[in-house]
This record gives sequence, structure tokens and C-alpha cells, in this order.
Amino acid sequence: MTSRPDALSNEAFADASGPSLNLAGKTVVVVGGKTGIGLGIAQAARAAGATVVVASRRIATPDERPDLAGYRQVRLDMSDESAVSGAFDGIGAFDHLVVTAAPDIGSWGAFQDADMRGVRAYVEGKFLGSWACARHGAPHIRPNGSITFLTGGMAVRPKIGFTAVTSAFAAVEALSASLALELAPLRVNTIRPGFVDTDMWGFLPEAQRQGLRQAVARNFPARRVGQPRDIGHAALFLMTNPYVTGTVVEVAGGENLVPSVG
Ligand SMILES: NC(=O)c1ccc[n+]([C@@H]2O[C@H](COP(=O)([O-])OP(=O)(O)OC[C@H]3O[C@@H](n4cnc5c(N)ncnc54)[C@H](OP(=O)(O)O)[C@@H]3O)[C@@H](O)[C@H]2O)c1
Repeated sequence: MTSRPDALSNEAFADASGPSLNLAGKTVVVVGGKTGIGLGIAQAARAAGATVVVASRRIATPDERPDLAGYRQVRLDMSDESAVSGAFDGIGAFDHLVVTAAPDIGSWGAFQDADMRGVRAYVEGKFLGSWACARHGAPHIRPNGSITFLTGGMAVRPKIGFTAVTSAFAAVEALSASLALELAPLRVNTIRPGFVDTDMWGFLPEAQRQGLRQAVARNFPARRVGQPRDIGHAALFLMTNPYVTGTVVEVAGGENLVPSVG
């Protein structure tokens, strides 16, 4: 009589505690975690029990941001590699790195007329900034840790006038896959959000921003506007699931299935 392959499945699920979203005892560093999507991830990680470090160019005072009282703030400019290295040396050992930060999206004009200083600042900031955070953060990450990068739908759905964003996002996704191999067993993944209602959209006049929210809620299959906590939930999954690496998770309300609303 042939035995059923239960041994394998039992072994695979032998740890009754299994993967969970619990981050108790873990330290999470979120570069860009002071605002927007990064803050949504920082809040989700803290709610899951982690100690959370938020890193960006400027430390907010308690008067400015009383809501950051429970977080350690660290100064880090991802465009300056020696500053990135120094910031991670100061942070010390930790478990999970999330890099959401990006330079402001400039308006560079059409491809042929683009101001190359702006293009360089954006591509170097987003792509090589994410690279620098991984390079100098990884040596401090404890076993069973992870790195998560942030891109956006434009990585695969270009829009005229945003070639630098598409190119930088696609490069970050390629970096993510490459590091999942080279830094293994450290896990490396990317979240590709769709529209998320953050201050990144603050450059739009309020009426136009409201119109965009309404168009998203009307047209995206999820029939709602994305919130930073939606991306926070996905980041928890990527930090805690030990079998997910080298992948891109799209959290976009189905934006990929409908014509662009922007
Ligand atoms: N919101 C959306 O709809 C959406 C959709 C798709 C993709 N994305 C992408 O997701 C990422 C995060 O977006 P978001 O909406 O959270 O943006 P956000 O609210 O504008 O936040 C950006 C954060 O990055 C930090 N930062 C900026 N430049 C930095 C630098 N050189 N070094 C270190 N930190 C820096 C800022 O803090 P400081 O000012 O203190 O440095 C800020 O905390 C971006 O790459 C964005 O393109 C966003």
C-alpha cells in the first residue's frame, strides 16, 4: 500500500503558530514613514507590535506632529549615500526595512524638452536612493528579515510626461527582484500602489483633487479611494510571510483593469 504524502504537508505546517501578521519584538524602519503611505505602513507595523523607526530628511517637532510620539525619528536623505550609511549605523540592528520615500515628482515637460537636472534628481533619488537604503540597511537586518520597496502603477502603465517616474519605478522593481536573489535568504519585495489619497496630491487645487477622488471611487473596481492603511496591510503581509520574495504586489483597487482616470 502506498503511503500518502502527508509527511511533507505535515512538516510544512508543523509550526502551529504559522505565518501571522504579528510583529511583536521586531523593529521596523520605514524610510519616508513620517507621512502618506510610509506613515500608513509605520502605523500598521506599530499596531502589529513592532518598534518603528521613521526616517526622512527632517525631524518633526512634538508640537508639529504629536501623532509621532510613539515613533523614533531619524534624519536620512536618501539622495546622499554617506548620510544613508551613517543613518543606518546609528539605527543599529533591526528586522524589516520599508522604503517608501521619493523626491517630489517634478514637472519636467515633454521628453524632448525635459529639464535634465530635474530628471536626474528624481531618478537618482528614487532609484539609487532605494538602492542606497538597501545597500546600507541590509547589513543591519537580522535573520528572517525583509526589505520592501514602493513603486506605483506607472511602472507598467506609463503616462505621457512621466517617463522619469515610469523609468525609476521599473528600475526599482528590477532592483527588488535582483536583490531577492543576491541577498537571499533576506526577502525582498515591492508594493505597487494605485491611487492613494495622500499629501503627494497636494499640488492639485482642492477641487481637482476632489474630482480625482470621485473619479477613482466611480471607476476603480474596488469602488473606493485607496488609503495609506491599505498599503500598510500589504506591507505587514510582506514582512511576515516567510515564503514571499522577489515579487511585486499590486494594491491598486483594480486600477490595472480600467482606463486611466488621471
Ligand atoms: N500617493 C499615491 O497615490 C501613490 C501612488 C502610487 C505610488 N506612489 C509612490 O509611493 C511613494 C510614497 O508616496 P506618498 O504618497 O507616501 O508620498 P508623500 O506623502 O509625499 O511622502 C513622501 C515622504 O518621503 C520623504 N522624503 C522625501 N524625499 C526624501 C529623501 N530625499 N530622503 C528621505 N526621505 C524623503 C518625506 O519626508 P521629508 O520631507 O521629511 O523628507 C515624506 O515623508 C512615492 O514613491 C510615490 O511616487 C504614491
